[in-house]
Amino acid sequence: MSKILKAGALVVALLMNSAYARAEENFGRWLINFQRTKEVKPVTDKRYLKECGECHFAYQPGLLPERSWEKLLNAGALKNHFGDNAEFDNDTLQAIHDYAVENAADKSFYKRSRKIALATAVGEAPLRITEVRYIMRKHKDIPEKMVKGNKDVKSLSNCNKCHTQADKGIFDNDTVSIPNYPDWDD
Ligand code: HEC
Ligand code: HEC
Repeated sequence: MSKILKAGALVVALLMNSAYARAEENFGRWLINFQRTKEVKPVTDKRYLKECGECHFAYQPGLLPERSWEKLLNAGALKNHFGDNAEFDNDTLQAIHDYAVENAADKSFYKRSRKIALATAVGEAPLRITEVRYIMRKHKDIPEKMVKGNKDVKSLSNCNKCHTQADKGIFDNDTVSIPNYPDWDD
């Protein structure tokens, strides 16, 4: 084979290789995203994580529809936020509000968020995630003693006490572990 042909063959081989590698990489990324989008988008905003994670689990915006966040995240409402004062300066409030609204359940393509959006479709604006019909249905069979009566849980609002990967937005049954009730699903 002439030198030129050899060089040509090499270039073709290299091109095919990198195209293959790229396809594989894209497939990997697609697969990861496909898996991820089954759940709820994790919180990426540091300010939201810090400010809204101070008193409780920093609920992902994809757990409530936009209408709910509009009702919850304004100066008036936050003065009496479930009995607590959770006021913020204007800049912080604006940033948190915008982040929540942009990532609200009805704007998300993550599967669980879609279900929450559907479960609140008729103009409902629940102020609690635990009042979303889809969420209530998923927990209706858990005995009170494992939730309110459980000193390490206390309330269904404490998602991360039982959902071991809640901070990643993962609420799958397989990742549930109820404190003090290792055999809850027997
Ligand atoms: C000063 C403490 C405090 C801060 C800061 C705070 N919260 Fe809360 N939040 C509470 C309390 C108390 C409750 C009621 C918890 C309960 O009933 O178990 C609550 C409940 C909630 C609920 C309802 C949960 C449910 O389904 O029962 C949502 C949603 C919520 N907070 C969102 C936020 C967001 C978003 C932020 C950030 C802007 C925030 N909170 C900051 C104290 C706080
Ligand atoms: C007392 C523990 C506990 C707490 C607190 C809790 N959950 Fe759950 N959750 C469970 C259990 C147990 C299941 C699975 C029920 C079953 O197997 O049918 C579940 C199921 C779910 C599912 C459905 C999972 C699936 O694979 O279909 C979602 C979504 C969910 N929880 C979200 C939440 C959110 C959001 C919060 C907080 C607002 C929360 N949970 C608080 C115990 C808990």
